[in-house]
Amino acid sequence: MSNKIIIAIDGFSSCGKSTLAKALATKLEYVFIDTGAMYRAIALYFKRNNIDLANLPAVNQALAQIELHFQYNPVTFKSDMYLNGENVELIIREMSISNIVSEVAANSAVRNFAVAQQQAMGVHKGIVMDGRDIGTVVFPNAALKIFVTADPAIRAERRFLELKAVNPEITMEEVAENLQHRDLIDSTREHSPLRQAEDAVVLDNSNISREEQFNLALKWAFEKINP
Ligand code: DC
Repeated sequence: MSNKIIIAIDGFSSCGKSTLAKALATKLEYVFIDTGAMYRAIALYFKRNNIDLANLPAVNQALAQIELHFQYNPVTFKSDMYLNGENVELIIREMSISNIVSEVAANSAVRNFAVAQQQAMGVHKGIVMDGRDIGTVVFPNAALKIFVTADPAIRAERRFLELKAVNPEITMEEVAENLQHRDLIDSTREHSPLRQAEDAVVLDNSNISREEQFNLALKWAFEKINP
């Protein structure tokens, strides 16, 4: 029986963290958790219910009404995000949510709520979790921490091509602006900002293929699993 570990993957928006995390989890037969989806689902709930982030009692009251879980989708072979029993996987990827999610994720009460659930998901290890604070706050003792980065122009282009497939109206400027905006808020917020953990390995994927990136990360994982 192999030694199961926790793999924490952090980095800027649209660096391909989720793609890498998902591929690693599939290969290792680990659970994959996209923590960004949790913040997006919370942002969707807040938007639908006009929750004022500055009103702490209202935020806490809203959080008490939120139930989040992931459920495997046999059609897409991926886990979908559910908010109070509703599959919100597609809605939470829309620009209307991307434009507000960083402000929601910067809220301390929201973070405490999400982090407690993320930590509970890791009690049995065998998990690959991606986000912004996984190696620094959620699992500071994770056996493997990967900090993914890529050139901002390359990230914007990749994200633009992805979004254009579902939204032909979208412009490159809109995508680049949203990425810049999110990176700025995510890395300058007071509560657990995005930063590289001291013991994280950096993976700059600007000029390497998905396969090269995957092989590198898998090698690091095996070095930790079978030291
Ligand atoms: O990875 P993503 O773009 O789906 O994340 C959505 C937002 O949530 C993004 O602005 C950063 C924030 N986030 C966070 O603050 N902490 C995490 N662990 C994951 C995401």
